[in-house]
This record gives sequence, structure tokens and C-alpha cells, in this order.
Amino acid sequence: MDRTPLIAGNWKMYKTVKEAVELVEALLAHIGQPSDREVLVCPPFTALYPLSPLLAESPIALGAQDVFYESQGAYTGAISPLMLQDIGCSYVIVGHSERRQYFGDDDTLVNRKLHAALAHGLHPIMCVGESKPQRDAGQATAIVTAQVRAGLAEVTVEQMRSVVIAYEPIWAIGTGDTATPDDAQTMHAAIRQTLTELFDATTANGVRIQYGGSVKPDNVDELMAQPDIDGALVGGASLKAESFLRIIQFH
Ligand code: PGA
Repeated sequence: MDRTPLIAGNWKMYKTVKEAVELVEALLAHIGQPSDREVLVCPPFTALYPLSPLLAESPIALGAQDVFYESQGAYTGAISPLMLQDIGCSYVIVGHSERRQYFGDDDTLVNRKLHAALAHGLHPIMCVGESKPQRDAGQATAIVTAQVRAGLAEVTVEQMRSVVIAYEPIWAIGTGDTATPDDAQTMHAAIRQTLTELFDATTANGVRIQYGGSVKPDNVDELMAQPDIDGALVGGASLKAESFLRIIQFH
């Protein structure tokens, strides 16, 4: 099954509008017309609207880093999937470990957000990943596959075609401590097996599973060479055009 790799930049809480525009202009100046891979940037909410016209008709898609689950209402501070769709977003990250850690997003909330994104035609990128103590205790696969099952509750085969999963071991995020390609591949295969059990083999084989956690220019090639790694969710190295462009150009 052909899965078009998806290289995504998660800018987290970085970049003013001016800085965001400069980064996107630098990316667009050098990206060319990649045909065998998809590229996505997920800037902070404040930069989405100004970036939208720059990215329309470009090879770079626009996504948000989070979303609330209602389309409108008295929810102070929240951003709805309708609003994201309205300004040209096509993707949204849900369940990032930093959301789980600092904002209390649990599997139930992640599942609600994922359904809300799907209902508005957005592709959710659902993040899962274990902590270091969980890995050391031999629980990594159990934790991650349980997150996959809970986060995908009530998702149909049809909807699953729009979903991307990102395996991001928490201990690898922002630490420079990447999972080895073998360990990442093992987890990606376990996630795909879980998708086969939840849906069917054809559906599971069509789902893109990204790896995230200290993806850099010097490790992207060996990660992307793994059969079940279908892309990267890149934090720190997506904040500079030079390093993100090199990651986009993985081979
Ligand atoms: P990192 O972040 O590349 O800086 O480790 C990845 C992420 O959190 O998505």
C-alpha cells in the first residue's frame, strides 16, 4: 500500500506573525514542487490567518496545533474546528503530549477533538507516546496501543482514511534523544497491528503513522527508511528553514 509520507512542522509556542511569515517565505523559496511527499506546517493560532494566503496554492499545507470540540459557543479562549476550516487549515494536531501534560487533555477529550475535526473536514493528527518510566517498566506498547484504541473510539473505516497517527515517545521530545529506528519501527508496527484489529488490514495499511521526537536532518533518513514510518512530526528542527528543508528532502 502506498502511503504518501507526511513531513509536518509543529512550531509549538514559537514565532510572532512577522517571524512566521519570514519562515514560510524561506520555505517556499526553496521547497520546489515535491510530488512524492506532503509537507505541512502547524504554526500557533495567531499566525494561521496571515499565513493562509501565502500557503494557498502552495506545496505546503496549513494545520493547527489543537482544537476544541464544539463548533461555536460560550467557551472562552477556545478555537473551533469550524474556525480552522474557515481560514484554510486542512490538518489539526490532537493529543500532543504537551497538551496531555499541561492542559489536561486525556484520551476522552482527544477522542472528542478528533471527531470534531473529522466532522469539519480536517485531518486530525493524533499523537500517542509513552513516558520514560513507562518504557523502562516494559509498558510502552501497552500504553501506546491503549491510547490508539481510546483516541479512535467510534471512528469509522471511512473516517479513518483522513486520520494520521503520530508516535511521539515523550522522552524523545525536545531532548535530542531520538528513538532508534528499530525501536520506532517496532512501535509503528504495533500501532498498525492495533489498527488492523480495530478496522481491517486494508484500512490499517493505508494509515500514515508519523514518528516524532528529536527528528533532525542527521537522523531523518534512517527513520524514514523504516517500512512503517510514514512521516515525521518535527518540533525544534522545523523552526529554521534550513533544517526543516533538509528534513523535507529525506531520502
Ligand atoms: P521535537 O518535538 O522535534 O522538538 O522533539 C516534536 C514534537 O513535539 O512534535
